[in-house]
Amino acid sequence: MSTSMNTDHQHKVCPWWVAYTFDNFLRRKIDPADKVLSQWVRPGMTVMDFGCGLGHYAIGAAKIMDGRGKVIAVDLQEKMLEIAMKRAAKAGVDYMITPVRCSAYSIGYSGELDFIVAGNVLHETPDYCEVLRGFHGMLNSGGQVYFTEPKNHLKEEQFQTEIEAARQSGFKAEQLPTSFYARRGVLTRI
Ligand SMILES: C[S@@+](CC[C@H](N)C(=O)[O-])C[C@H]1O[C@@H](n2cnc3c(N)ncnc32)[C@H](O)[C@@H]1O
Repeated sequence: MSTSMNTDHQHKVCPWWVAYTFDNFLRRKIDPADKVLSQWVRPGMTVMDFGCGLGHYAIGAAKIMDGRGKVIAVDLQEKMLEIAMKRAAKAGVDYMITPVRCSAYSIGYSGELDFIVAGNVLHETPDYCEVLRGFHGMLNSGGQVYFTEPKNHLKEEQFQTEIEAARQSGFKAEQLPTSFYARRGVLTRI
């Protein structure tokens, strides 16, 4: 597995209890996942939330699809999946979400996808180039990836290495305007 492009990233995995500090009611106000993802997610899609954490984007995608479509919520921490599914049940969309526990070196899902969201996770993986190639292999033609990285953990030049890695994996990559806490991009499978 190549790690040539990620040597400058810290691969520290966010502990489940730290996720409460940024995935809370305030975030849902300033970064409403259903509003953000509605630019790309449509009813009937199969969506993967990679590194789903407490379920911010998985729940947002499920709300948009409103019973038509499915969400695969992938994380390497069982506790994240457990809390995400509890939150999804509270939001009434747990029946649309399948939790999948992965390992650090394997995405853990191999079905076809229409859309992937990877929120604040690529820098935590041991090899984001490998993850991006995996995304490319699972997406249908024209399928897209929305990804974000926290400004406080990733400098602009590090974010650019991820954009470049996405291009090398066969994506058209577009950088989106930053939000107040995140660098953001959208990738289209070509
Ligand atoms: C900073 S949290 C972000 C969670 C969520 N996407 C969000 O934006 O709120 C990063 C998440 O990615 C997960 N993660 C880290 N490395 C991973 C890997 N190699 N494969 C899958 N998930 C991973 C962590 O367990 C954690 O839940």
